[in-house]
Amino acid sequence: MNRPETLGFANITGKDMDEEKLVTYPTEAFLSREYLAAEKRLLWPKVWQMVERVEDFPDVGDWMTYNVADESIIVMRVADGNSAEAFRAFHNVCPHRGRQLISVPDGVHSVRGKNRTNFVCGFHGWTFDTDGNNTYLLDPQDWHHKLTPEMTCLSTVKLDLWGGFIYINMDPDSVSLKEWMGRCGEILEYFEFDKMRYKWRQWAVYPCNWKVAIEAFLEPYHISGTHTQLLAYGDYYGASQQYGWHSVSKYDTREEKFKMAQSSGTVRAGKGDDARVSTYELIRENYETVMNTASTETLVNAAKRLVDELPETATPAECIDHWLKSAKADDAARGVIWPEIPPEIQAESGLAWGIFPNQNILHGVTFASPAYRVRPFGDDPDKCIFEAYALERFPEGEEPETEWVECERSEKEWGPVLMQDFSNMEFVQKGMKSAGFRGPLPNPHQEQKVVNLHRNLANFMEGRGAPTLLDVQD
Ligand code: FES
Ligand SMILES: [Fe+2]
Repeated sequence: MNRPETLGFANITGKDMDEEKLVTYPTEAFLSREYLAAEKRLLWPKVWQMVERVEDFPDVGDWMTYNVADESIIVMRVADGNSAEAFRAFHNVCPHRGRQLISVPDGVHSVRGKNRTNFVCGFHGWTFDTDGNNTYLLDPQDWHHKLTPEMTCLSTVKLDLWGGFIYINMDPDSVSLKEWMGRCGEILEYFEFDKMRYKWRQWAVYPCNWKVAIEAFLEPYHISGTHTQLLAYGDYYGASQQYGWHSVSKYDTREEKFKMAQSSGTVRAGKGDDARVSTYELIRENYETVMNTASTETLVNAAKRLVDELPETATPAECIDHWLKSAKADDAARGVIWPEIPPEIQAESGLAWGIFPNQNILHGVTFASPAYRVRPFGDDPDKCIFEAYALERFPEGEEPETEWVECERSEKEWGPVLMQDFSNMEFVQKGMKSAGFRGPLPNPHQEQKVVNLHRNLANFMEGRGAPTLLDVQD
């Protein structure tokens, strides 16, 4: 698989995006049933996809299904250790007459289990070991003993690990996961996601296309219009940048005194003259209204103490510096050791990464939250499976036990900020169907992650839905 620029389908290039050229793209990727069907052929079988966290498979014999579009993949731990070799992935289908080996009813998140030593098909009893080899089939003589092991084994799927996540790719010719993650992977490795654990995880079937759902979380440009209550605490000017397949959003700042290595992410001073107070208020408001994400209890508590520990004259930079030092010490005292992140990596890492095609992860030094994954739901372009989760570093032995919980759309389950995002998603899906909609006009500076999603989708989708330059360039 080549780099996006060389595939020749998309009408715009990474350079066009870096130059912040004005673009638009058609709406068929969101609305067309036929496009959704084409994704099953052209997109999902070709891309690396996150399946689950490694720690969800503590014991040999732990297994689950990962379901996307019409595909179902069985992932299983076959040995101890945290390397890809300890896992296997197979298409969830029996080579005899095509029954799913593991029954996956419509609408379930995943099917999981433990202590598996083989797979027995429920239809005619063909049996497979955990390497996918057929170990039993009834009456082989009826095939005149001409069935070969290659004909009767399970179909394997490529699997690799990154950041404590298990990824699969159904395309045997795909690039490696390392190459796929590219610079995005290199930067985020400094944050040691593999040492984090789920704090919570929940999902819902949502009435919009999966792209509308992920796009609602890709850019901070919407904060001023959607999360208006947050404006009391901070300035929300954003920036974004494409990194090939993936892309990053950042907080930008119009005021020089707020600029520092950390300020492109969540560690920044809020509005107001007293930086001690505003730094705390900004982070507390975000933390409490976004389901205890975008920070940690340690960071919030350390920010709260700024007013006691620093003089009123402290500058935003001094506040951030002191805040991070004391939070780092607080965490160290409870056994959570921060990774060392060079300032230039911190600055480049920004706020949140859109990982093509269907993930977005907001990261910090000891957390990756909120993070999102979306998938299509059935054959309906107006529906998707929406998942949100929070990862955090915990002292050893204090990691919470979590599982995927299906949650109805209510403020109680999702908090006020996500409910505000949800309120857009459904009505973007409806609004784009209007004959009066002339096509999206994404912000070239702040919404590159959205544009990049469509640019890369077009590369997989044989050019369909490709962004084009607006006819207003110099
Ligand atoms: S379909 Fe699986 S044994 Fe027949
Ligand atoms: Fe939002």
